[in-house]
Amino acid sequence: MGSQIPTSPFDWHWSSPAHANVDEPQPTSDAATAISASARTTTAVSLAVLYVASVDTEYWNGEAGRAWAEGAPMMDRILRPFAETLLEAASIPSEGTIIDVGCGCGATTLLVTERHPGVNALGVDVSRPMLAVARERSNARARLRFVELDASTGRPDPADAERIVSRFGLMFFPDPTAAFANMRGWLRPGGTLTGLVWNRLADNPWLDDLVGIVSRHTAQVWEPGDGPGPFSLSDPRATRTMLEAAGWTAVEQRDLDLPMRIDGTEADVLRFCLHRGPVATALAEATEAARRAVEDDVRAWVRARHDGEGATLPASARRIHAVAP
Ligand SMILES: C[S@@+](CC[C@H](N)C(=O)[O-])C[C@H]1O[C@@H](n2cnc3c(N)ncnc32)[C@H](O)[C@@H]1O
Repeated sequence: MGSQIPTSPFDWHWSSPAHANVDEPQPTSDAATAISASARTTTAVSLAVLYVASVDTEYWNGEAGRAWAEGAPMMDRILRPFAETLLEAASIPSEGTIIDVGCGCGATTLLVTERHPGVNALGVDVSRPMLAVARERSNARARLRFVELDASTGRPDPADAERIVSRFGLMFFPDPTAAFANMRGWLRPGGTLTGLVWNRLADNPWLDDLVGIVSRHTAQVWEPGDGPGPFSLSDPRATRTMLEAAGWTAVEQRDLDLPMRIDGTEADVLRFCLHRGPVATALAEATEAARRAVEDDVRAWVRARHDGEGATLPASARRIHAVAP
């Protein structure tokens, strides 16, 4: 593929209303690259920015990966209840191999070994900065390994695992069906995949409200597309279709009733809100005035939800579970 855009692996895009016409032919690959380059040199009003649909290892190895690595302790506290729920649903056996896909900084993989000392836990990810944190935390623990591997095409060793688990690491594949088929080949017959994914953006005010604030001050509209991104598996029917087409059986999906709790000062919560995902992407390109206006509104939004010890933000995630025949 020609030049790729290291900014984001996500098929989400900010666009000015003039470019939000869904009937317009959408640019892809080189055309998207050209538009993005132009958008980056445009200050006030951004043009549509689409991202090339391939596993964007540059993104996860660039600033975004480093931000995740630096913010790991905070993210782990926020996402710990999600990891607990995930492992409970995965019914981890007392022995065998458990693979954590998109393990990031390793929190879920570590939890597997703490709770189930008899298993071999293997975390796979494409982000070197995040894997470095994971390895540092693993403290050379036996039965725990972290390996750089693209889950959509790679094959771990051994590839006869009992379980694949993933906390929000399944949504970034350009071709999810192919990736799901690939991962099915990592399991023994009867092995299972249990993963957590986000439901629709509109059901996740912790992000939807924030991109709404950005839109007010930059005249840009943010919408997740169909490609890789945090909401790429938000449609349960489409997700089931992909899993079944990839050869998985007994597909089950269940909504979780878990908010996103962010402990810390107002400044901590504000930092969490501003420094990740589409908000960070938009602010990196915004004018100074727009950036300040967004920060002021997000600060007020945080203040309204802060209870003195942190903020509880409504969230909507879903658990998917499937069996490899
Ligand atoms: C939203 S983060 C979640 C990280 C971790 N599971 C957690 O809950 O903290 C998504 C992770 O998926 C990883 N990832 C993205 N594409 C991948 C791929 N093709 N193969 C393996 N990991 C991938 C990223 O590097 C990142 O660590």
